[in-house]
Amino acid sequence: MALLDLVQTLTTPHPVDRYLELVRPMLTVRDMRARIVGVDRSVPGTLSLSLRPTRQWDGLLSGQFVQLGVVIDGVRHTRCYSPVNSQHDRRRRLDLTLRVHPHGLVSRHLHEHAEPGMVLDLAPASGVFHLPPQRPDRVLLISGGSGITPVLSMMRTLADEDYSGEVMFLHYARSPELVPHRSELAAIAAAHPNISVELRYPERDGRGFDHEELVRVAPWFAEAQTFLCGPPPLMESVREVFTTEGLSERLHTEEFVATTTPVDTAEVHGSTTFSASGVTAENAGTSLLEQAEAAGLSPEYGCRMGICFSCTSVRRSGCTRNLRTGDLETDPDQPIQLCVQAAVGDVDIEI
Ligand SMILES: Cc1cc2nc3c(=O)[nH]c(=O)nc-3n(C[C@H](O)[C@H](O)[C@H](O)COP(=O)(O)OP(=O)(O)OC[C@H]3O[C@@H](n4cnc5c(N)ncnc54)[C@H](O)[C@@H]3O)c2cc1C
Ligand code: FES
Repeated sequence: MALLDLVQTLTTPHPVDRYLELVRPMLTVRDMRARIVGVDRSVPGTLSLSLRPTRQWDGLLSGQFVQLGVVIDGVRHTRCYSPVNSQHDRRRRLDLTLRVHPHGLVSRHLHEHAEPGMVLDLAPASGVFHLPPQRPDRVLLISGGSGITPVLSMMRTLADEDYSGEVMFLHYARSPELVPHRSELAAIAAAHPNISVELRYPERDGRGFDHEELVRVAPWFAEAQTFLCGPPPLMESVREVFTTEGLSERLHTEEFVATTTPVDTAEVHGSTTFSASGVTAENAGTSLLEQAEAAGLSPEYGCRMGICFSCTSVRRSGCTRNLRTGDLETDPDQPIQLCVQAAVGDVDIEI
């Protein structure tokens, strides 16, 4: 490590990995990267990528996400993706399943350009949405659309462990052809009598999520731990049922898109100073991340919804409101997540 620190000092101001990436992007000292080793576009609107991470990869807990950094037109963009691998997968391989958003920057770029050999930036797995170490006696997995990824990881993990409890996997999609990994879901259910899979197509069969459906597929839901990931309307319906049943504590959720409280127009005044850049902008009532971007700055970000902490910067002074919780925060020199904080009056941010 002493030698490494010496090399690092000699190559300052650029970390040694900046030089190595010019020669061999997968040969890194500190930064983690991943090489694309497989690309599958066979499911319409979906891109499946297999990645081989560099030696720094330390594995994941089923359900966690990784951050992927992709350079598009010279700018690095970071997005979160939940690998579908079992946490017992020892192949040093990460399998991602991406929904391609028609106007999405990164998902569309990868759909068009990803090919074996391409190297991407990768951050370690993180997130609290994972199976508890002490497996519950019963597990209910509910997902919709691209939200299948973290719960598929959980199901594969339980299958690999020969878990003996009861598992129900309830997934919502628009049609059977749009369900990624459909044949594998059926294969796992066929091989494990305690694991059941139910696929629903509300637009086709009119069966959305409600209390009746829950009782039908998992009559034991009150004793289970439930893991949910999907589009906001599905998340809302499931939350409502669990809240009514007094079971909110047994419901664990992951969101791919943020739900935020609207900004109160009475708080939209004053100016925001990005002091390290010498830039000042009028408070526009948006998140500080959006405000910085509108002012021509390019702060780091990943999830844009308060999960990954990539956008954390110091609020030197002033008051901000947390857009997820609605809480006001005023302590000076505190790290804040720019993507979920909005200015209330004059604020100084150290970027
Ligand atoms: C913890 C976490 C895990 C995630 N795991 C996965 C995963 O396994 N697979 C996957 O496909 N995505 C996943 N996502 C979403 C992913 O990070 C990106 O948001 C998504 O790929 C869109 O990025 P983009 O650059 O293509 O679109 P952007 O250019 O960022 O956005 C384009 C438009 O699409 C909207 N949009 C972005 N994401 C969604 C969404 N999920 N649903 C509806 N509208 C959206 C935006 O509001 C915007 O209007 C995850 C997100 C988080 C926070
Ligand atoms: S971008 Fe992930 S917490 Fe802000």
